Amino acid sequence: MITGGAGFIGANLVLHWLCHHPDDLVVNFDALTYAGNLENLQEIKNHPNYRFVLGDLRNSLDISKAFSKHAIDAVIHLAAESHVDRSIHGPADFVETNITGTFNLLETSRKYWSDDLSTHRFLHVSTDEVYGSLGSKGKFLETTAYAPNSPYSASKAGSDHLVRAWRHTYKMNVVTTNCSNNYGPFQFPEKLLPLLIHNCTQKLPIPVYGDGKNIRDWLFVEDHCEALDLVFHEGASGEVFNIGGSNEWSNIDIVRFVCRELDKELGRSEDDSCENLITFVKDRPGHDRRYAIDATKIKTALKWTPRHSFEEGLSKTIRWYLDHQDWVSNITSGTYKDYYELQYG
Ligand code: NAD
Ligand code: DAU
Repeated sequence: MITGGAGFIGANLVLHWLCHHPDDLVVNFDALTYAGNLENLQEIKNHPNYRFVLGDLRNSLDISKAFSKHAIDAVIHLAAESHVDRSIHGPADFVETNITGTFNLLETSRKYWSDDLSTHRFLHVSTDEVYGSLGSKGKFLETTAYAPNSPYSASKAGSDHLVRAWRHTYKMNVVTTNCSNNYGPFQFPEKLLPLLIHNCTQKLPIPVYGDGKNIRDWLFVEDHCEALDLVFHEGASGEVFNIGGSNEWSNIDIVRFVCRELDKELGRSEDDSCENLITFVKDRPGHDRRYAIDATKIKTALKWTPRHSFEEGLSKTIRWYLDHQDWVSNITSGTYKDYYELQYG
């Protein structure tokens, strides 16, 4: 079972799994919140080894029905409320889905697999944001102390602690990953890169928070999926793996870089450059300054390395968004407008 398989990383992972492990039955458990979109999975919807379950992690009964119906024997848990700005406007959903939802999933798994917990893998997909904010030097290690700063990261940290405790106390076979910022196809246009691409195509202002000097470590989503596959199959029980691209960019630099790439794709002249759309706006409250992952452990223990350079990943991403304008407009024509108004005014 992959939870959150209709979201950004989840959909990429479902497609990855059916391509690389076609004999596995993949059950996608997803509540289809604003971020879930079955259009992402059009190409495999009739695959003989794919099932979709409409279910909500906040409701234990939904989870246990799915376990019984599909004889679930392993879980990769991605479903979450995932956007920091939304967590600032409305933290309750984050606590309910990310903490209570993870608790419900752990408890159902534990009960359903009680005959032999050790043979059933539970991979918990988390974020580097649980470690808080870095200064100009250093990177996050698996041993870095937790210091989450936003309602989103605090709720993810809470879920990580539950997973850790279920291993320590009940001996569940769990592994946790903490990954840096992903980019790629199917990302909801509330996140920086797809929002930037969309606004450039529409000639709308590109909102850059604060001074634009916050730093993120960007990883192409397919490289993340490959890491998850490796950790699922080969990571030792109880271990934590940091995953990152060793690809740090300040927001203003990445925005300018993407603008220049888009100018080429869209045939924009200097006068009409996407860069002219950049608009500095009020900062995100509690905005973490810098994230950077030290991925030595997964590289050494599991021989993982990202296959895509940033230029390759970005060019695939830009092409995908330009070729899927319908996908974007289906999203941006609905309740997205209300969110956009709330966030950007
Ligand atoms: P997303 O917001 O695109 O997708 C989340 C999915 O979860 C959606 O399909 C949504 O419908 C589903 N969902 C939400 N609440 C649910 C509930 N109560 N029950 C069942 N399904 C529910 O998220 P994403 O960016 O793909 O992130 C996936 C996971 O990876 C999250 O756990 C996130 O914390 C983690 N992560 C994301 C990034 C990133 O850069 N996007 C980086 C590191 C870790
Ligand atoms: O680090 C991993 C995390 O990356 C994941 O756990 C989260 O689910 C994911 O949303 C992402 O969090 P960020 O807050 O880093 O991503 P976001 O795309 O929202 O913002 C990236 C940076 O760009 C951040 O410093 C805020 C800034 N930003 C964002 C938006 C949406 C802007 O300057 N303007 C914007 O309009």
